[in-house]
Amino acid sequence: MSEQREQWQSTAGFIMAAVGSAVGLGNIWRFSYVTYENGGGAFLIPYVLALFIVGIPLLLLEFGIGHYMKASAPVSLFRIDRRFQWVGWWAVGFTMFGILIYYCVVIAWCLSFIFFALYQPWTGVEGGANAFFFGEFLGAATEDGLRGPFDLTGPNLTVLVALAAVWAINGVIVGRGLRAGVEPVIRVFIPLLFLLMIVLVVWSLFLPGAGQGLTWYLSPDWAKLADWRVWVEAITQIFFTLSLGFGIMIAYASYLPERSNITRNALITAFADSGFAIFAGVAVFATLGFMAQAQGQGVEDVVTSGIGLAFVAYPQVISELPFLPTMFGVLFFSALAIAGLSSSISLIQAFVSALSDKYEVDRTKVVGTLCTIGFLLGMVFTTGAGIAWLDIVDHFLTSYGLVLVGLLEALIVGWVFGGERLGSHIEGAGSFRFSSHYGTFMRLLMTGALAFTWFGLHQAED
Ligand code: PHE
Ligand code: NA
Repeated sequence: MSEQREQWQSTAGFIMAAVGSAVGLGNIWRFSYVTYENGGGAFLIPYVLALFIVGIPLLLLEFGIGHYMKASAPVSLFRIDRRFQWVGWWAVGFTMFGILIYYCVVIAWCLSFIFFALYQPWTGVEGGANAFFFGEFLGAATEDGLRGPFDLTGPNLTVLVALAAVWAINGVIVGRGLRAGVEPVIRVFIPLLFLLMIVLVVWSLFLPGAGQGLTWYLSPDWAKLADWRVWVEAITQIFFTLSLGFGIMIAYASYLPERSNITRNALITAFADSGFAIFAGVAVFATLGFMAQAQGQGVEDVVTSGIGLAFVAYPQVISELPFLPTMFGVLFFSALAIAGLSSSISLIQAFVSALSDKYEVDRTKVVGTLCTIGFLLGMVFTTGAGIAWLDIVDHFLTSYGLVLVGLLEALIVGWVFGGERLGSHIEGAGSFRFSSHYGTFMRLLMTGALAFTWFGLHQAED
């Protein structure tokens, strides 16, 4: 490689990019429905524990190894031992690419709904927002339920156009490179996203019924903690939300300058991400409380579907809002779309980094090809079978993708590379000394927690 490796212009640029990757649809769309399905407030306890036991140590690992090796996942692992290279390709080429494809479809839904907020097409539909979303918009519903994975009834044109737009935006940003594309765009997106979320939270707190929603969100149902599946869900959500096990954080950290405070960067990224999720949860559940009150029901009765939560509940709220409903809808779906785009950019960047670390490639060509293939494969999710596929792919990729990769990373770094060795590298420019414990911790706790999740996920299948 003759070309000088690119570097972030500033630490702030790197942190924003890492936060941009972490904060995404997972924090608003996925976090709220997973929390909802796992007992509301009770879920926060395993969630926070998983953050400390699995999330932060693994984020330190990915940042640390990327920074140490100055390479993305496949080459970094190759340098530990050539036999491990495939783990990196598995992460980047399989898990990441798979997630990217449906992730962009959900962003396309967000773009469509920014547009729909303006004229609220669900108001005339029998069955309301639920029927609109699954029926008219996705074409996924039939008389007797959802279509199966092989019922590929015609793609929805709106989603298709939106999907093309999403891939084009991604392609243009990543195609310009780290310094000219990713970094400047993220520096605008992230402050904007936090601003939008503050407006939404404050707004939703003033809605009548907000208190009821928050009580439901924040009061733990202790019995749920006895269900081990809730714990597996918490760990999986931590993986997804921190973009772990994809090779993204490895790639992003590889562009850091020599002297960098890895510990601080990892802590900022982790806390910004979970803080954002919990904060966004306030807006989501306050809004659900409002909806429950408007319909004279309990909070647990107003939402019927997990995946559709944001796209069913919010449209309903929009039609019932006493004050500037269109504005509320546009803000909410714009926040989702911006959060989603700053994450999808990171996925594509990680892919491009992996290829260009290994081969002489032309970035524009790689990005162009990737975006075209991504768009074409994404089309399946715009058909009537889309929801069925989304469920299958999400489940398959979380069990065989991120958690497996995380487990392997912990094993490889813990035993082969040496946890202490990585720990002392991470300590580098920081003042926090922990390397002697990091190695042991990595080997025992993480392996245990990850193995639990992986076996748990497979247990859950039966
Ligand atoms: N962390 C992102 C989120 O919470 C999801 C994501 C996963 C982004 C993998 C990039 C890579 O939405
Ligand atoms: Na996230």
